[in-house]
Amino acid sequence: MRDIKATSAAESIDAASTLTFFENVLAARLSRRRALLGGLGTVLVAACGDSATGLAPPPPVTPPAPEAGAPDVVDAAPKPLALGFNPVPKSLADAIVLPAGYTATVLFRLGDPIAEGVPDFNNDGTDSPESYAERAGDHHDGMHYFGLGADDKIDWTANDRALLVLNHEAITTSYMHPTGQTIYGTGVDAVRAFTDEVVRELHVHGVSVLEITRVDGKWSYKKNSRFNRRITTETPMDLAGPAAKTPYMITKYSLDGSQTRGTVNNCAQGYTPWGTYLTCEENWAGYFRRTEPDAARTAKEVASFKRYTITGTGRELWATATPDTADDRFGRWNAEKRGASTDGSDDYRNVANTFGWIVEIDPFTPTSTPKKRTALARLAHEGCWIGPVAPGKPLVFYMGCDGRNEYIYKYVSAKNWDASDAGGGITAGDKYLDDGTLYVAKFESDGTGKWLELRWGVGNVTPDYAAYPFADQADVLLNTRLAADAAGGTKMDRPEWGAVDPKNGEVYFTLTNTNAASRPVTSVDAVNPRFYNDPKGTEATAQKGNPNGHIVRFAENGGDSAALGFRWDVFLFGARSTADAVNVNVSALSDDNDFSSPDGCWFSHATPGLMWIQTDDGAYTDVTNCMMLAALPGSVGDGSKKTIANSDTVSVPIDGGTIETDAGPMPVDAGTTMVTTMKSVETYVGKPLGDASLRRFLVGPKQCEITGVIESPDGKALFVNIQHPGEEKVPVFDDASSFGSHWPDGGDARPRSATIVITRDDGGVVGT
Ligand code: FEO
Ligand code: CA
Ligand code: CA
Repeated sequence: MRDIKATSAAESIDAASTLTFFENVLAARLSRRRALLGGLGTVLVAACGDSATGLAPPPPVTPPAPEAGAPDVVDAAPKPLALGFNPVPKSLADAIVLPAGYTATVLFRLGDPIAEGVPDFNNDGTDSPESYAERAGDHHDGMHYFGLGADDKIDWTANDRALLVLNHEAITTSYMHPTGQTIYGTGVDAVRAFTDEVVRELHVHGVSVLEITRVDGKWSYKKNSRFNRRITTETPMDLAGPAAKTPYMITKYSLDGSQTRGTVNNCAQGYTPWGTYLTCEENWAGYFRRTEPDAARTAKEVASFKRYTITGTGRELWATATPDTADDRFGRWNAEKRGASTDGSDDYRNVANTFGWIVEIDPFTPTSTPKKRTALARLAHEGCWIGPVAPGKPLVFYMGCDGRNEYIYKYVSAKNWDASDAGGGITAGDKYLDDGTLYVAKFESDGTGKWLELRWGVGNVTPDYAAYPFADQADVLLNTRLAADAAGGTKMDRPEWGAVDPKNGEVYFTLTNTNAASRPVTSVDAVNPRFYNDPKGTEATAQKGNPNGHIVRFAENGGDSAALGFRWDVFLFGARSTADAVNVNVSALSDDNDFSSPDGCWFSHATPGLMWIQTDDGAYTDVTNCMMLAALPGSVGDGSKKTIANSDTVSVPIDGGTIETDAGPMPVDAGTTMVTTMKSVETYVGKPLGDASLRRFLVGPKQCEITGVIESPDGKALFVNIQHPGEEKVPVFDDASSFGSHWPDGGDARPRSATIVITRDDGGVVGT
């Protein structure tokens, strides 16, 4: 049996000595500007597997011709902060592509054991189901670095030892079992055939807490650390805040509504100044089975289920596994009314109310019970990002609900921050996260915005609201989407991550994309201003709407995070560099920095002013795998007002009949005609960053998403998650050549989500 800790460390060393991660001079992508600067644009490719084992090298990349008209100008005065690497080209290789002088080391892969005695991962679907409770989960996502001092307490400056806490959002079902999920029947009759498979999946979701160390410049994780912990769909959790211990939360598991089991679909994250981790439940609604007729539930229950899309068989069919256990291990995923009680104490009709929250975890106390903080709203929570922290001021957390036409929110604590609460664990959380004011953002067309309070009895959030009569504040928090509808927030193009600029407190939110069905051309507005077609692939398949997404930012009035108003602009628009420069590629992206579908984003604290942007894209994947870029943003209002002209031409049926002409009635054939709808909007666009201040830093392996980014306090190690490589292809299991990816292990291996550590070969600060 292999000791994975030793192996991980050894592999890190091998990476340098045996070319597991081999350097290839792929391209001398010398823009004329860089040529003037004397830079050599080499590219490091950290490919899957070992080159010595026969892995084919990545395809060669032809150096592009210098761009016509590129300015031969070098800035006269150097900027205080500059990106210190040459951009990498777009890539479709099954490899991590990084700038020359950087190395990626694989730290923590799906299935890696985190406790002594747990065997090495077979990665062929045969690993024992219960062992997954002590292995890395799948689909690594948001994460945070908590420095760990010699006294085993938090040390915000620790560069060599830390607790890395990361989310495992979902699963790539094809590779989790010997030959994918075994399902009998179809449609509503489909059932999971083997409980073992379901147990594996129940464990592999959730969160990992992992002790990591840097020794002789190499990072590895400590397999036998007492801090290592998996939090899964089965971990007991407390419910806290205004919706806890209310009738809405009663289940057979918790008769007083004070607890629930587990967390699921943990997407992005947050942290608190007292040293706890926040994991955020995003697409939890899809896991619950609810095939009962609507007549089985009250009108309000049905309205709530519909607004959160709690309907159908449950995405992994967990509720169908039999035989069940005495504690309803599988049946607890059934949100139907099955018992005879009036309060839900004999079934799980209310179980979905116990999901959709921000969950606080104390990584320094492995025995601590995570707590779901209901004051921070029930949403498809992407993440939870704290604003500037100042003693004597409230704490502010920004949150996005990831759905098309969903909203951006903030929570302002009732209590002011007291720095002596640092290190206070879950108890400090009780002080700041259970009592506060919730707001939804309304973006006005004049470049200003308002925060609309979501409180029972305020505005339309009352028992008189026809679409959903709110009964009390717990009802408001449980049905925050409906409350935001009632208040009149601005529907956005899928809010993903937020990030707060440590230089000035300005807040950025990625709006990953939308489509024509969700935002037709007639619905564009000042802050979601584009509708266009981005044809994909050789078939030029239409992708209409805003398939490439954008990033909005706002500055709170008076620099006060708790303010009730703000100014906004659009920081960046995703686009192909070749797209219409006026109405689509509005941010003037080039070949070196064009991207689509921004998702993860984060500001370095080691290098104030440096922002990382990650993509989760499906629109531009005919040209490149998902990527990470570095940016040096300015500030809100540094650009200009622009008018964006949008149009949509569609084929519409006509009935035929006759039309009147000068010559009298004329017959017209039934058929179709083309109709164009146009709408122009004025918006506010940040100053284009240009190649100097926006560069592609990393491209990931095939079919992955790049998500999750954090650094060591000195900025010399950047931790990045590679989620679901190879996920799109349902493989032929006895033919490894059919796998969508082999990253990171290479050869014939099944793909694995993994955390990588990126370092500079000269030991410097990443990105600068
Ligand atoms: Fe889990 Fe919205 O990404
Ligand atoms: Ca995301
Ligand atoms: Ca995403």
